[in-house]
Amino acid sequence: MDVTLSSIFTSIIIVAFIRWSFQLINWVWLRPKKLEKCLRNQGLNGNPYRIFIGDMKDLIRFIKETQPRSIKISDDLAPRISHYYYQSIHKFGENSFIWFGPSPRLNIEDPELFKEILSKPDVFQKPAPDLGSIIVGGLLFLEGEKWAKHREIVTPAFHLHKLKNTLLAIRLSCSSMFHKWEALVWSNERSCEIDVWPYLEDLSGDMISRTAFASSHEEGIRIFQLQKEQVKLALEILQWSFIPGWRYFPTKANRCLKAISKEIQSLLRGIVSKREKAMERGETVSDDLLGLLMKSNLQEIQEHGNKNMGMSIEDVIEECKLFYFAGSETTSNFLVWTMVLLSQHQEWQARAREEVFQVFGKEEPTAEGLHHLKTVTMILQEVLRLYPPAPLTVRTCTETVKLKNMTLPAGVQMSVLIGQLHHNPKIWGDDSKEFKPQRFLQGISGVSYMPFSSGPRICIGQNLAMIEAKTALAMILQRFSFEFSSSYKHSPFPIITLQPQYGAPLILQKL
Ligand code: HEM
Repeated sequence: MDVTLSSIFTSIIIVAFIRWSFQLINWVWLRPKKLEKCLRNQGLNGNPYRIFIGDMKDLIRFIKETQPRSIKISDDLAPRISHYYYQSIHKFGENSFIWFGPSPRLNIEDPELFKEILSKPDVFQKPAPDLGSIIVGGLLFLEGEKWAKHREIVTPAFHLHKLKNTLLAIRLSCSSMFHKWEALVWSNERSCEIDVWPYLEDLSGDMISRTAFASSHEEGIRIFQLQKEQVKLALEILQWSFIPGWRYFPTKANRCLKAISKEIQSLLRGIVSKREKAMERGETVSDDLLGLLMKSNLQEIQEHGNKNMGMSIEDVIEECKLFYFAGSETTSNFLVWTMVLLSQHQEWQARAREEVFQVFGKEEPTAEGLHHLKTVTMILQEVLRLYPPAPLTVRTCTETVKLKNMTLPAGVQMSVLIGQLHHNPKIWGDDSKEFKPQRFLQGISGVSYMPFSSGPRICIGQNLAMIEAKTALAMILQRFSFEFSSSYKHSPFPIITLQPQYGAPLILQKL
């Protein structure tokens, strides 16, 4: 029999096609059904697997229906913070799961399980990044040795004693926001309605631009604006993200997202290269986050005498992108919910103001003074409990694991429901839904409070976030009193972070 080149080629194509078809069938049907059987055999419940889409269609419909509704400020927040997860737990019980396309995701509420999952980052890794990795890379999506190396190099930039230097930058950002508020308030006889949400969003962008890139603050602001556009586009695309490779389809949103990514990349490359050249020339570089990160990187390389032991310029760019993404929206959420809760609880606003005047008088906040703000700290901790800016994180088992009485095969995902944990009356008592900062009088203890996550992958920026929030709140309290305006509608909803859907119109009065 003659074996021709074309018959060999045809055979290769047929074998490849059969293999690919089997992989596809396995991915959309065989594997999910096997996982489903394994979970149900252990008493775990959820909707039956629907080929390819799982619960995604229901989830998107549910989000669209729930999102526009506002609630009473006294209403239970748990169903809003964890929306579809909460419904699923109500329908199927504590041991339940949701289908994210062909992957089952367990709803985790038990603090002991949180601790176990978050303390073993090698076993419980982040699910394979898809869309998110276009917007940001860096620590958030790295795993294994590369994550450990980056974490070691980035950590010194966030040490408390080094962050003291950021206070000037934070105060400058706040002052620039107050100029705008004061102009509005003075033009309205000392008091007027302002939707503080967009101002706080800009403030957090401005703070991270100044603290990360002191001298390149203008480019930093542009990066912040571009990333905001990226997030909007990403949310549009996210609805289809369970289709593998969807992000490579040449849709309008995908093309825009790529173009913005390129612009951000080139802006950051410019900033980082300028700094690198200055360091090579032996010039003193400022102690902003980028400067501290690059010094720590250089030290690592010098200690090992090997360039590969440090981070590349590309790596540094990715980490900088992440500072914006992880550090701006979370902080603006934190501040807006603080102002909302202090509008609702005027007695706490008055107590916090009294403390701020006792510690700083009319002077600008100092690093030492921030340590003495006990009431302000308790208030901020309670805000993070009730309104955690990042109310959920997800992990995947990389191997078969035993979790309590469950045996979970590799590939099962789990939603670590931080928001649900913070509202659980079994943990926080019958008054768990109430704003009671005094519960933090003795500080934080136990595993049931984790607005910044927990374990080795705990938020690296938590000290910075607290310094920013304390400084901004102290400065606001020194200048303004605030209360709800009649147009305020309470509408917290998690879109990546927990945001006020209808903004936060408040009446600000100049003191
Ligand atoms: C109130 C403000 C903030 C909150 C509530 C918050 C919360 C969190 C949470 C829950 C995680 C864990 C995410 C996960 O494991 O999936 C995280 C990680 C992270 N955060 Fe924050 N964050 C805040 C502010 C910041 C700031 C200001 C920065 C830096 C400028 C920052 C940088 C990071 C980074 C780099 C990670 C990844 C750490 C790793 O995986 O090793 N965060 N944050």
